[in-house]
Amino acid sequence: MLSDRSRPVIEATLPVVADHIEEIAARFYTHLFGQHPELLDGIFNRGNQAERTQQMALAGSVAVFASSLVKVPEQLPEHLLSRIAHKHASLGITPAQYDVVHDNLFWAIVDVLGEAVTPEVAAAWDEVYWLMAYALINQERGLYSARGVRPETVWREWEVVEKIPETDDVVTFRLRRTDDRLVKTSLPGQYVTVQVPMPDGVRQPRQYSLTRADDGEHRQFSVKRVHGGGKPDGEVSNLLFDRVQVGDRLTMSLPFGDVVLDDSGRPVVFASAGIGVTPMAGMLSHLAAAGSHLPITLLHADVDDASFALRGQVLADIEALPGASAHVWYERGAQSSLPIDVHAGVMNLDDVKLPEDAIYYLCGPLPFMQAVRSALIERNVAPRDIQYEVFGPDLWQADLVTEDTPGAGRHAAG
Ligand SMILES: Cc1cc2nc3c(=O)[nH]c(=O)nc-3n(C[C@H](O)[C@H](O)[C@H](O)COP(=O)(O)OP(=O)(O)OC[C@H]3O[C@@H](n4cnc5c(N)ncnc54)[C@H](O)[C@@H]3O)c2cc1C
Ligand code: HEM
Repeated sequence: MLSDRSRPVIEATLPVVADHIEEIAARFYTHLFGQHPELLDGIFNRGNQAERTQQMALAGSVAVFASSLVKVPEQLPEHLLSRIAHKHASLGITPAQYDVVHDNLFWAIVDVLGEAVTPEVAAAWDEVYWLMAYALINQERGLYSARGVRPETVWREWEVVEKIPETDDVVTFRLRRTDDRLVKTSLPGQYVTVQVPMPDGVRQPRQYSLTRADDGEHRQFSVKRVHGGGKPDGEVSNLLFDRVQVGDRLTMSLPFGDVVLDDSGRPVVFASAGIGVTPMAGMLSHLAAAGSHLPITLLHADVDDASFALRGQVLADIEALPGASAHVWYERGAQSSLPIDVHAGVMNLDDVKLPEDAIYYLCGPLPFMQAVRSALIERNVAPRDIQYEVFGPDLWQADLVTEDTPGAGRHAAG
């Protein structure tokens, strides 16, 4: 862990670095892409750069990691590292690229903090960087080797065999393998990165949750097209929605993702909103394929029946599972033609009876996840029993706020 020489230096400089970390991250990315424009083709998500969410995620993760080294030196922030490592592996990040990131990050640190970066300060932060880098490199090596791949070989071509309209804004793609190589099974809840060539010739990666259990031949995911509402429309989701058709090929990574179904036999509660239903659909499909008898509760919030993506598949799986029930909240009121328990308004946990000792999975917009998580904590659900999937870079702000709370980790956020 952190050396005795570096610890007091990190403690003393953490506040000033934390105060400037977003500026450092912004300067870092500008410099990185100036030096290595090839990283913008197929590796970095330019939507996240435009929104600055990736800058905030990098900044937040470094701040959480460094403060955790100082405050809880005996334990690395596992969930943080695991989320990042899975994302990196789904993009084929290599160990050699850590040198490139190192050099550009330290250039940005000096550029922003100037003379405050004495040789002693630089050496201490160098140590933090490599502790984090090696923790990630090691996890990523494990993820690649468990799948029998190298970073360059996480990608495969798949052929679209079905494009199923789900709602006005959501389509499901069903893809079939195009070669004889074994299709490694996904864990329930995992996602793939899809790498799409854009009209300007640049490839853009985006993650999509798998929505069906594996059969060795196919993968399935659902895409909601993002309307800009004053900002640009989402580029990859709209291209997939409008232009990709049956017979086309897509480049897709192997499945990755650390928010996966717990197999300890405890009751499971899924709480989703809108397109956040996709990882839940994947987990339900795995449970149905396995003939699970567990108590399973699906809580889902949407606008109305017509906007509830994957409703046919999800409700068929609920029906096939003897211990499963579904409860839905619709913004437009409690009218529904589906054979389920429907409530009007936003999700309210008081409307349902939740099982004892359950594991909770949340997915949806951040305010939704924050509200549901708070309601669960109010009901004395332990933070470690609440997992969530974020459809974008995790900003780790909850970890910064709650870092003094014992046991509060990534799963304590929303
Ligand atoms: C683990 C994970 C799982 C996911 N699973 C799913 C899933 O199952 N289904 C699904 O539909 N999505 C899923 N997503 C989200 C998905 O990966 C994409 O983020 C989503 O499809 C939007 O991508 P896009 O290219 O259409 O939007 P982008 O082009 O990336 O745009 C995103 C936002 O940035 C704004 N923006 C872009 N460029 C600019 C600019 N120049 N200036 C200002 N604002 C700008 C846009 O207006 C938009 O609001 C998942 C994400 C993750 C991380
Ligand atoms: C110690 C070093 C590093 C740290 C702390 C770090 C941190 C992060 C974080 C926090 C995320 C967001 C994860 C999420 O989705 O929630 C991320 C994503 C990513 N990282 Fe790293 N990373 C490091 C090294 C690297 C390297 C060496 C590369 C290779 C060029 C890289 C490329 C990426 C890419 C392409 C993404 C996805 C970006 C996006 O979708 O917008 N990272 N990283």
